[in-house]
Amino acid sequence: MNSIVLKKWSLVRHHLNSEYLKTLTRRMSSSSLLTIDSINQRVKHMEYAVRGPIPQRASQLESQLKSGQKLPFDAVIRANIGDCHAMNQKPITFFRQVLSGAANPIEMHSNPKIPKEVKERVNELLDGCGGRSVGAYSEATGVEIIRRHIAQYIRERDGLETDWRNVVLTTGASEGAKAILSFINTTATDGIPTGVMVPIPQYPLYSATLTELGMNLISYYLDEQNQWALNINELRNALQKSRSICKPKAIVVINPGNPTGSVLTKENIENIIKFADENKLMIIADEVYQHNIWDPNARFYSFKKVMQELGIKLELVSMMSASKGFMGECGLRGGYLELSNFDEEVKAVFYKMLSARLCSSVLGQIAMDCVVNPPPKGTPSYELYVNEKQEVLKSLRERAELIAETFNSIPGIESNGVAGAMYAFPKIVLPSKAITAAEEKRQKPDFFYCMELLETTGICVVPGSGFGQIDGTYHFRTTILPQTQTMHKMMDKFKQFHINFINKYK
Ligand SMILES: Cc1ncc(COP(=O)(O)O)c(C=O)c1O
Repeated sequence: MNSIVLKKWSLVRHHLNSEYLKTLTRRMSSSSLLTIDSINQRVKHMEYAVRGPIPQRASQLESQLKSGQKLPFDAVIRANIGDCHAMNQKPITFFRQVLSGAANPIEMHSNPKIPKEVKERVNELLDGCGGRSVGAYSEATGVEIIRRHIAQYIRERDGLETDWRNVVLTTGASEGAKAILSFINTTATDGIPTGVMVPIPQYPLYSATLTELGMNLISYYLDEQNQWALNINELRNALQKSRSICKPKAIVVINPGNPTGSVLTKENIENIIKFADENKLMIIADEVYQHNIWDPNARFYSFKKVMQELGIKLELVSMMSASKGFMGECGLRGGYLELSNFDEEVKAVFYKMLSARLCSSVLGQIAMDCVVNPPPKGTPSYELYVNEKQEVLKSLRERAELIAETFNSIPGIESNGVAGAMYAFPKIVLPSKAITAAEEKRQKPDFFYCMELLETTGICVVPGSGFGQIDGTYHFRTTILPQTQTMHKMMDKFKQFHINFINKYK
């Protein structure tokens, strides 16, 4: 053996020994019953980049700024998470009046400034709550009157009959997604993992949940060259390849898209439904951004409506949330899912499963009610509601345009238009020296880029690797949520950073 090989071998041995010793010492010195090796290993391996190491570093930087430390920037700009109110979006007055009235009806009734229509709505909702209190559990599926209002909303949106008994209130859409994935998971009984087709790039709730549940994620890549549309050949290939390692059962579609900011055309949705039908896959349609359409040529079509028009009857779960749209009430954790074409017996078992978690937050359910059931036309609350809603949507639309335009004006960055949702997912061309520098730090190149962006400018975005991307391509996800003035500042800083970064690693 020559000396270089010997040296390398001794390094490897040293590394192995030290890893082994570390584990041993950890086991011996820990008096805890739970160690990192004895917890659920699936949970250990879950990843959720939206709150990953870069946002965590952003929090540290914020604390440093608060404690008076000098940094190259005076504020951290949080463009990593779709949390509208955290970025100073104002709540809708009617929503907050109903919520505070429901939480404190005695005070509301004695306040002459609260509009009559708010008081009436609160009364109607509290009539549906146990003991007329939001502090009482509701039915596991949610307060009946709210389920009825949701069904009415869907009926008006799609022009289709909708049974309120197919609607379930959830703790944000996240709980709905997790519940349905867990419900279809037969990995343990089949001995082969249940497979779920998930778009790449994807919102990491799906990959994290599938990892936690021991299910198989079947990636299908969205077509970046074609506004992130779904390519049916890609779906076919992905499904075909997966058959030897799992039992495919469902396809997740996120429309409008996170992180892509795309809106699917009706034709694309039709083809996806036909594909699912041919391959006996149920559809999980994540439609939480249905109010966030920015491209004047785009339109939101629900999977339910398109499926009905095609005359296809597949099990479909559609999810909606109070966290997005124009209301952005993320912290209230309101959401719902609608089941279509479910066998009654199967539906009953799903509801039984939900009953084990008692119910979702009743205040969250009330937030959802406000979304689907705005104040009555002709009332003062209605006027105000329409103005506030339009103002938020108009401003978001402007920011969606601004962000894509600015990124496309920077050499080495390319972004599809932000047709919907709250994100852009631009592609970055990184110089090979930057890639080598990242590798030396054992970091993914897009992570390295985003970390350097954060450390030098305070802008916090999420590396594309947290959502998935084609190997050898690099992206990042930014929200369009910083308010307009902050957004202008952010885009100026971004541009300057990118130019300096490219020069540094040229
Ligand atoms: C596509 C998508 N689905 C679901 C969620 C979860 O939303 P929530 O649980 O707040 O309703 C989000 C949140 O960002 C999302 O982007």
